[in-house]
Amino acid sequence: MQKLDKIYEGKAKILYTTEDPASLIQYFKDDATAFNAQKRGTIAEKGIMNNGIASKIFEHLKAKGIETHFVQWLNDREMLVKRVEIVPLEVIVRNRAAGSLCRLLGLAEGANLSCPTLEFCYKNDALGDPQVNEYHIRALNFATDDEVKKITALAFKINEVLKKFFLDLKIELIDFKIEFGRINNHIILADEISPDTCRLWEVGTGNKLDKDRFRRDLGNIEEAYQEVLRRVTQ
Ligand code: TMP
Repeated sequence: MQKLDKIYEGKAKILYTTEDPASLIQYFKDDATAFNAQKRGTIAEKGIMNNGIASKIFEHLKAKGIETHFVQWLNDREMLVKRVEIVPLEVIVRNRAAGSLCRLLGLAEGANLSCPTLEFCYKNDALGDPQVNEYHIRALNFATDDEVKKITALAFKINEVLKKFFLDLKIELIDFKIEFGRINNHIILADEISPDTCRLWEVGTGNKLDKDRFRRDLGNIEEAYQEVLRRVTQ
């Protein structure tokens, strides 16, 4: 499959058209950003590791009956995906308090939550991806009520599948961000799931195996991503 035109470049990925109008090539970069791109850097071979990790996760989700935009792994940095219209929402699911939830509610990192939570943010870099609720989503036509219902159910189902998937690899899924797309009048999982978009803590040690190592200058960033890749492909 040949890359034709670049149609989108985000902070970590590029999308290209192909000769098939229904398929895109998703290219993973080594660029890393945090705090709405106020902090920028690169993580050596991150693109290769995230392409490998996301491919494995999408394959696992498919095996569990969850439809995604993933078609196939193509090469080190590229996967073939179905062309979708991205719903302009970042959907965050949390199993334990970390990051912005700790700041919002004054919680200790790792504080227990008695059930998973879900948040929506409006995908808009200029505004810093502000949190929105279902009334904002309806009033501004970001998604229909029916789509929000489907996205919510899918997000919690994906959480259950991925919690178990990672726990089997001795990793605790603390939280993650996902994005959805519209295709033929229904909603499927899009974008990526990787250590860029999840918090992943090693069971037993609590070692962070995700982008918090970059956000907080914890060192051994590449090693952490490599370890996640090793476990998901083992
Ligand atoms: P937060 O605690 O900063 O709100 O992040 C929650 C989760 O969402 C965490 O796993 C990191 C992920 N995330 C992204 O993937 N992209 C983003 O832009 C943000 C803010 C968070």
